Amino acid sequence: MSIANTERTFAHSQQLHTAFRPFSEDELRARYRRSAELYRRACSVIPGGIHLSGRPLVDPATTPMYFERGYGCRVWDVDGHEYIDYLMAFGSQLLGYAHPAVDDAVAQRSKRGQLLSMNHRDHVEFIEALLPLFPGAEMGVFLKTGSEATSAAVRIARRSTGRKRIARCGYHGWHDWCLPREDFVPSGLDAQVPEFVARDPSTLQAVFQDCPDQIAAVILAPEMVTPYEPSVFHELLRITHLHGALFIMDEVKTGIRIAPNSIAERAGIVPDMITVSKALANGWPLAATLGRREVMQAAAGMHYSATFHGDTTAMAAAHATLAVVHAECVQFRLEQLGRVLIQGLNAQAKEFGIPAEAYGEPLPAMPFFRFTHHDPAFNLFLSQFFFRQVLAHGIFLHPRHMWFLSHAHREEDIERTLDVTGKVLKHIAQELMR
Ligand SMILES: Cc1ncc(COP(=O)(O)O)c(C=O)c1O
Repeated sequence: MSIANTERTFAHSQQLHTAFRPFSEDELRARYRRSAELYRRACSVIPGGIHLSGRPLVDPATTPMYFERGYGCRVWDVDGHEYIDYLMAFGSQLLGYAHPAVDDAVAQRSKRGQLLSMNHRDHVEFIEALLPLFPGAEMGVFLKTGSEATSAAVRIARRSTGRKRIARCGYHGWHDWCLPREDFVPSGLDAQVPEFVARDPSTLQAVFQDCPDQIAAVILAPEMVTPYEPSVFHELLRITHLHGALFIMDEVKTGIRIAPNSIAERAGIVPDMITVSKALANGWPLAATLGRREVMQAAAGMHYSATFHGDTTAMAAAHATLAVVHAECVQFRLEQLGRVLIQGLNAQAKEFGIPAEAYGEPLPAMPFFRFTHHDPAFNLFLSQFFFRQVLAHGIFLHPRHMWFLSHAHREEDIERTLDVTGKVLKHIAQELMR
């Protein structure tokens, strides 16, 4: 979709504004009755009722909590409502839900015993398929989740360098080393994993000065460099190597999703290791840690094993996913669609005088929209009103987490989304900000 088309879409959406009526609180509660009932049951058998990724969007009564099925970029909640989904299972459904080529590959594989007692040809061919896609990748190990991939990278770095501390920036998973300041983690771990601020490389310099010759690796989730600025990656890599440490790009979110395959490649850096997961296998659980041969050799004989690592269904899914990604230029499409969505939202915020901004986190294939009113309480009010209403009008936008485009999104989906956001923002301007 071109910019001119975006403007046309926006003008078109304005014509429909008169038809908009927000859902009342009571109507929202009635709308998600089955969802609320499931949540009530869940609270008695699952601690807190949810796994953390399924936290309430606004609250459990007035926003959907349970989905039943998904197809393409659409999901349906247990109360029967349809949504255009912009979370796509936190970015893992790169091609869309229930993609036929991917799911056929999985079905074929599962007929032959998907997890066998020894090594499998797929283990070799999966890593062989990934290596050419990532800068500097000469060897790799396969795992199941992003947390495992980053934990393996950290362990490999420690073994490879003989050093123990890790400098980190961003979310790297749920294991103890990733959450060293939580009260449930044994004390002392935080000193082993000092943090730096990616957009201020002097903070990394300071970590090295505080811990001379002790940092094994620097691990960075590249979305922490928002707005995207390639020179920041170059500077962080330079500082890391100057101090004899390894540089790990944690591309669990961005690997395969961002053109061309990674932010490392996009920014023109060659990290020592890269971790990838979410978008690899279109929703099937799979992860990998890849890197320079000299570094990765430290993984030989190192303990990083789990019963399900050798599962080959997800590897079959990855082969099918990668074939579509590259044959259909998926990454460039996502970026273009994301750009149109961001531009449309910013145009609407400007038109209606709403304190809000849309941007890529860090690039347009991963957009986000936030309210920027100077009063935090009013900002929260605006945000809750906006997200409740867009959800109730069939657009699944997450209020706190970056969004993800998928190959299943069409231009008409973006158009419909902007139609709804335009109506809600206009209502906010006319009724709530006067
Ligand atoms: C950058 C990054 N690293 C690691 C992880 C952990 O991945 P997982 O949730 O699959 O364990 C995430 C998850 O969101 C992530 O975004």
